[in-house]
Amino acid sequence: MADHKDGVDLGRRRVLTWAAAAVGAVGAGFVAVPFIKSWMPSAKAQAAGAPVEVPNISKLQEGEGMIVVWRGKPVMIVRRSQAAIDALAGLATELRDPDSKEIEQQPSYAQNGTRSIKPEYLVVVNICTHLGCSPTFKPQVEADWAGGFYCPCHGSKFDMAGRVFQGVPAPLNLVIPPHMYTGESSLIIGVDEQGAA
Ligand code: FES
Repeated sequence: MADHKDGVDLGRRRVLTWAAAAVGAVGAGFVAVPFIKSWMPSAKAQAAGAPVEVPNISKLQEGEGMIVVWRGKPVMIVRRSQAAIDALAGLATELRDPDSKEIEQQPSYAQNGTRSIKPEYLVVVNICTHLGCSPTFKPQVEADWAGGFYCPCHGSKFDMAGRVFQGVPAPLNLVIPPHMYTGESSLIIGVDEQGAA
């Protein structure tokens, strides 16, 4: 029987979320395609490394992610539930760098417990720090998994803040790109208060 809550088909939503994550670098999914197409910069602008504007991330539901492409890299924007945010604090002993001390992995404004400007939203380069594969977004909360990113080729695991777990091949947390909010739910990737990256 379908898993329903408040009239929403959670089973279907999970499928859509997986589909959006699975397309990875292609940059489009069931959830994200119509939304992304209207604001994707031209190929020429992308090639030049132009910042990417993302106008309405509030369309994401909790537990959903979308991919945008910046400088040819897949950048995932994830909307975290309060439960997912709360779970981050309890993972410290399982992580390699829970306090994000490796400074090149995120700007200073994301060097905090959620690795973000707004706790609700994670903005992260979805490239594994082992050999560069694109991890799969796994927002589901299971008995031994509080949600995060899983890289199937060599088994690296990251939490919902992109922090790497101990005992996996990846040596570092996923990279948080320079970004800033331009409105309540709009942001730009590739530039921040200090200027263009
Ligand atoms: S590239 Fe991700 S675990 Fe190897």
